[in-house]
Amino acid sequence: MNILGIESSCDDTSAAVLKGNTVASNIISSHLAHRDFGGVVPEIASREHERLIVSVVQRALEEANIKKSDLDIVAATVGPGLIGAVLVGLNFAEAFAFALQKPFVPINHIEAHIFSTFIEEPYPSFPFLSLTVSGGHTLLAIVREDLSYTIIGRTIDDAAGEAYDKTGKMLGLPYPAGPAIDKLAKQGDPNFHKFPQALTKGYDENFDFSFSGLKTSVQTYLSNQTDNFIQTHLADICASIQEAITSVLVTKTIQAVQKYGIETISVAGGVSANSELRRKFERACAEKGFALHIPKPIYSTDNAAMIASLARLKAERGQIDNTLRYNYPAFAAFQG
Ligand code: KG4
Ligand code: ZN
Repeated sequence: MNILGIESSCDDTSAAVLKGNTVASNIISSHLAHRDFGGVVPEIASREHERLIVSVVQRALEEANIKKSDLDIVAATVGPGLIGAVLVGLNFAEAFAFALQKPFVPINHIEAHIFSTFIEEPYPSFPFLSLTVSGGHTLLAIVREDLSYTIIGRTIDDAAGEAYDKTGKMLGLPYPAGPAIDKLAKQGDPNFHKFPQALTKGYDENFDFSFSGLKTSVQTYLSNQTDNFIQTHLADICASIQEAITSVLVTKTIQAVQKYGIETISVAGGVSANSELRRKFERACAEKGFALHIPKPIYSTDNAAMIASLARLKAERGQIDNTLRYNYPAFAAFQG
């Protein structure tokens, strides 16, 4: 089965082709146009997707060496995300599927992250506990063979990626700050300053997360230091912020697998690209005998291979609609 996946929910225009269970291409064009604004500007994102979508899909087909007519399924993100951005990829994908008279498979972006550990073998075995950590979401879920899942914890305020991006912004780092903090922290002392690790001690039966207190704490800490001190200790401060974020994520995930008697952990989403988070999980899982699955960094951050891959998992389970109805915005009126 050949699947074209399209992702356009935020600031990456991406298209991927899956041949069977092999990624034949995964083109990601990240928008640089947001750089000067310190965050993603929704209107710019929509226009960038519009500008890039045709060439990105063309490149994905060329690199996979496949003809449009040999595609069996077209899948795209239908949300959550920036609505204008989502609509570009979604309408393109539906029109493409309609023209080819092939099924269109709508994909939830967060679910695509959850199942991104199935892009490449070895796959996690079911049931597994999924920690999904991205710029907009932080959640723990128990995932079953039929692709259903139960959310057992989520952030009650900021997402883990947001904690990286916002504290990084306070330090003058470019958006998204996660990769920059990851890099700087390698030269820093994680115990230089102790930032709060919310909802850990005494919360071993509660799997929610909170990162807004960390943000306030970093802000207060920085406002009491001179610019010279901050610049001299930038790597130490980054390492200390990272220590707080990654420790909370690992502690709560391990508490959850222990409570639910699950043996496999899957960590996904942009923050799962973080080298320290990977190291902490590898160490904890080796110590306690849990199986650990984390996608390659290129599949941690937003990509279309995860969209095509979840469409494949659904197709294998007979969970896709083969009736060739196209229900999303552009086609709803047309079909009556
Ligand atoms: O999954 P993703 O690409 O987009 C969303 O769905 O949000 O995640 C983006 C988030 C950003 O907050 C970014 O700073 C963070 O992932 N991120 C990282 C790293 N790479 C990306 N955070 C920490 N360390 C990294 N190496
Ligand atoms: Zn994402």
